[in-house]
Amino acid sequence: MVASFPPTRHFLNYRKKTEKGFNNWLMNTYATVVLAAGKGTRMRSKLSKLLHPLAGIPLLGHVLKTIETIPSTPSFLAHNHDIYAHRPIVVLGHASEQVTEAFASRCLYATQYEQLGTGHAVLAAQAVVDALDPLPETVLVCYGDTPLVRAEILAQVLLEHFRQQAAVTFLTAQATLPSDFGRVARDRQGNVRAIVEVKKATPEELSLTEVNSGVYCFDRSWLWPVLQDLPRNTTGEYYLTDLVAIAASQGLKVATVQGMMDETIGINDRVQLAAAEKLLRQRILERHMYAGVTIVDPATTYIEDSVQIGMDTVILPGTMLTGETTIGAECRIGPATTIHQAHIGDRCVVRNSAIEDSVLEDEVSMGPFSHCRAGAHLARGVRMGNFAEAKNSYIGAESDMHHFSYLGDTTTGEHVNIAAGSITSNFDGKRKHRTTIGTGAFIGCDTTLIAPVTIGDHAYTGAGAVVTKDVPPYTLVVGVPAHPIRSLRPEEPPSTGNGAKE
Ligand code: UD1
Ligand code: CA
Repeated sequence: MVASFPPTRHFLNYRKKTEKGFNNWLMNTYATVVLAAGKGTRMRSKLSKLLHPLAGIPLLGHVLKTIETIPSTPSFLAHNHDIYAHRPIVVLGHASEQVTEAFASRCLYATQYEQLGTGHAVLAAQAVVDALDPLPETVLVCYGDTPLVRAEILAQVLLEHFRQQAAVTFLTAQATLPSDFGRVARDRQGNVRAIVEVKKATPEELSLTEVNSGVYCFDRSWLWPVLQDLPRNTTGEYYLTDLVAIAASQGLKVATVQGMMDETIGINDRVQLAAAEKLLRQRILERHMYAGVTIVDPATTYIEDSVQIGMDTVILPGTMLTGETTIGAECRIGPATTIHQAHIGDRCVVRNSAIEDSVLEDEVSMGPFSHCRAGAHLARGVRMGNFAEAKNSYIGAESDMHHFSYLGDTTTGEHVNIAAGSITSNFDGKRKHRTTIGTGAFIGCDTTLIAPVTIGDHAYTGAGAVVTKDVPPYTLVVGVPAHPIRSLRPEEPPSTGNGAKE
């Protein structure tokens, strides 16, 4: 049985101040404390558990993003009173440098020097919370290892807490397999009596299916003195969950909000990490589908949380979209395509290809089996066919590069044709050199451009040319090494027959 404490003076004053009711409150201020000091030993990793990526974002990043989203949730926006949200405070212990480096000033930090339980961890944040201006009335506590909890449900917990003027409000869920979650014990009237941790539960309590999800709101002025006097459990830990029984025994209001079980998943090992990844992936895919994106086969489509996709785009099976990637409207992406950290415009088609750190403007088509490496920029209407590669290159609008070709460190004008098998020889073994290809130039089949070299506007190279010197505009060069054989007037197309354009 948990010791009972008389209600603190602060809290009674607080209740008096607010007893006119929720609607008379001028402002609610809250601070969020994220508990993340656990050692995470079950991950068996050199990397802090909180930095393990889930759908491309570190675990803690998900929790922070969720907290940052609370003020813009529908529930909060519908609520017409001022609510002041402070930057989240993260309680750290083990490997904290890795975490503070990764998140820097995105949050405030507190240190729990010894891991003596979740109650002890919240107390470690007291000084940081009390130094906030304006001073928060409410402390929202979340766990750093439950990344699937949604901002909307956190908003509902906060609003319920404000409305009920409770000492404690917490999130629960109905579990079919309650496993190691704390159980919610209620009296006959349905009032919460306690959260019972599995280690201390009777067989009867273990059979309860309502569980504690690990999200709480506390009245700040009540919280600190109660935490300071919190008795230690036989396990040696101070359980935050014991505060619920203390509030109940003081006759104070304990409120609950029921959420979904799948948001409650906690990550302790890599098996749970994979389970969470699957759920999160599904959630991300559903977000895109509801926003007007067709995902033909969700089971084989992997999209990270950071990706944006426009309306009426179709994502075909086996596609992986990662990093800060944006894809425009009415595109067809896939099958079997990977795009990382790239910007794809509207109405593009990308089949069986790989793109990273690149830009495709509107109406570009690419693939099958082509590759845009770092710094590739395909301007509007470029057609890149099969087995083509571009790296650190700008390919001008409406250019064609259909078969077996490579452009590295190259800039081309518009309406350029790179015929089958043409490549830039941009690396001399020591240094990279640039190639410039003018507007309307026609690079004939199997041309090798030995960089640095410039091909003038509307120049032509004959099949198999090895170009070692700059080619003036409107000039046809052939041979090894390539030499000019004639000048071309704009209206006179060449008749070398070496293009392999479709
Ligand atoms: C906790 C709850 C349980 C709830 C479950 C939901 C307690 C006592 N129990 O159990 O009722 O159903 O979460 O996921 O709170 N941490 C610290 N310092 C510590 C100990 C833990 O910062 O000294 C942090 C951990 O990094 C973790 C979080 O607190 O992010 C929760 O701790 P954990 O040990 O995982 O609690 P559970 O056993 O999962
Ligand atoms: Ca846990």
